[in-house]
Amino acid sequence: MASYDVIVIGSGPGGYVSAIRAAQLGLKTACVEGRETLGGTCLNVGCIPSKALLHATHQLHEAEHNFAKMGLKGKSPSVDWKQMLSYKDDVIGQNTKGIEFLFKKNKVDWIKGWATIPEAGKVKVGDEVHEAKNIIIASGSEVATLPGVEIDEEIVVSSTGALSLPKTPKKMVVIGAGVIGLELGSVYKRLGAEVTVVEYMDAITPGQDAEVARTFQKLLQKQGLEFVLGAAVQGVETSKSKAKVTYKLKKDDSEHTLDADVVLVATGRKPFTDGLGLADLGVEMTERGQIKTNAQWQTNVPGIYAIGDVITGPMLAHKAEDEGMAAAEVIAGKHGHVNYGVIPGVIYTHPEVGSVGATEEQLKSEGRAYKVGKFSFMGNGRAKANFAADGFVKIIADKETDRILGAHIIGPMAGDLIHEVCVAMEFGASAEDLALTCHAHPTYSEAVREAALACGDGAIHA
Ligand code: NAI
Repeated sequence: MASYDVIVIGSGPGGYVSAIRAAQLGLKTACVEGRETLGGTCLNVGCIPSKALLHATHQLHEAEHNFAKMGLKGKSPSVDWKQMLSYKDDVIGQNTKGIEFLFKKNKVDWIKGWATIPEAGKVKVGDEVHEAKNIIIASGSEVATLPGVEIDEEIVVSSTGALSLPKTPKKMVVIGAGVIGLELGSVYKRLGAEVTVVEYMDAITPGQDAEVARTFQKLLQKQGLEFVLGAAVQGVETSKSKAKVTYKLKKDDSEHTLDADVVLVATGRKPFTDGLGLADLGVEMTERGQIKTNAQWQTNVPGIYAIGDVITGPMLAHKAEDEGMAAAEVIAGKHGHVNYGVIPGVIYTHPEVGSVGATEEQLKSEGRAYKVGKFSFMGNGRAKANFAADGFVKIIADKETDRILGAHIIGPMAGDLIHEVCVAMEFGASAEDLALTCHAHPTYSEAVREAALACGDGAIHA
């Protein structure tokens, strides 16, 4: 029986980062993973493979729509789908092997198999029981299915099946206009599919700054995606190679159907805790099936911690990573901390969407006085040169103190640009602090500075 200071269950971004940090802090650490490869949903069937397909299909879009304008003439590239999938698989392989390398480098043992916790201080994998002074549950999440919709991963697929379709569909219906639906919907639209997104709410990306969501919808529509909003999906019927999606419009209760070759179910995810034995251990859960933790990521059972998608908060890889590091630090006797007010969210479509902190809608509901500085990428020279002038940067600051409360960016590289604002917010900066910082010309980041200037005396290029 091997004995550890820390055993982390799950090797997604939350788990593997936690294990590496624990080992770096001098704790004898193992990580249990039942998949063939490390990296969890994110690396194997989530963030990373979807980004490979988004990148490849964006290149196709550029070739089809913008190359000739720049004087690059020639036949548009044709799509070798098998090769695109093998490029994606290669990217996955490089990343998952990278974690294996990091585990070896940091002396983290990979225990292969699925873990059960028979009692606090013990982790059982297969027939072996390992001792662990501390256990960190980082078992992630799984697809949340809809009543009346059965996922077969062939015709009715989750994001997992959508990343490995045998051929590109002619007609795709996406259920849910959230992050997964819009990213993968974009991929297949660019590959030539007719894509219709059916969304329950009256706007896409619920929770997003409303102005960004409206602009985002318009830009996606311009790319050919179709939306049916305010529609509750009732069920999906499949025949041999086709599906029929039935939905009801909330405004008049009328029922409609849509035909598709492939239906992508992207209506959210739920915590994955199967087989861990949490009920027998008496681990307290929330009503939504999440593991309850205190501010130090401890469950009610001493020595058992939980982080990432299995606990409350946004289901985001980077949130899980931060919690993983912080939990390891707490175990090592340090002061692990996560600032939940500054967790960026990014949608990797084109244009990208990046946001952090409060939205105008939130501040209005709190009755807090704020001001908005906005700058369109139309006024940004670099964006214009690169056919990327759609979208804007919006910075929201406290009306009195000028302290930055949030930022919402739709435009080129929004997912990278947002971090300048994240750092500023971590330092409690005012919009003026950003506005007074010299930004290199010509860069997209000048649009962030201009939005900050717009919170004060005004943007220059507006
Ligand atoms: P989501 O929560 O982002 O979106 C689900 C959407 O489905 C919502 O808009 C919801 O209103 C809608 N919906 C729910 N029931 C419906 C019904 N019956 N009919 C029509 N629409 C319905 O969930 P998604 O996109 O599945 O992603 C799952 C998780 O993975 C999210 O927490 C997301 O943040 C995370 N993720 C993050 C990514 C990123 O950061 N770029 C990429 C992919 C996933």
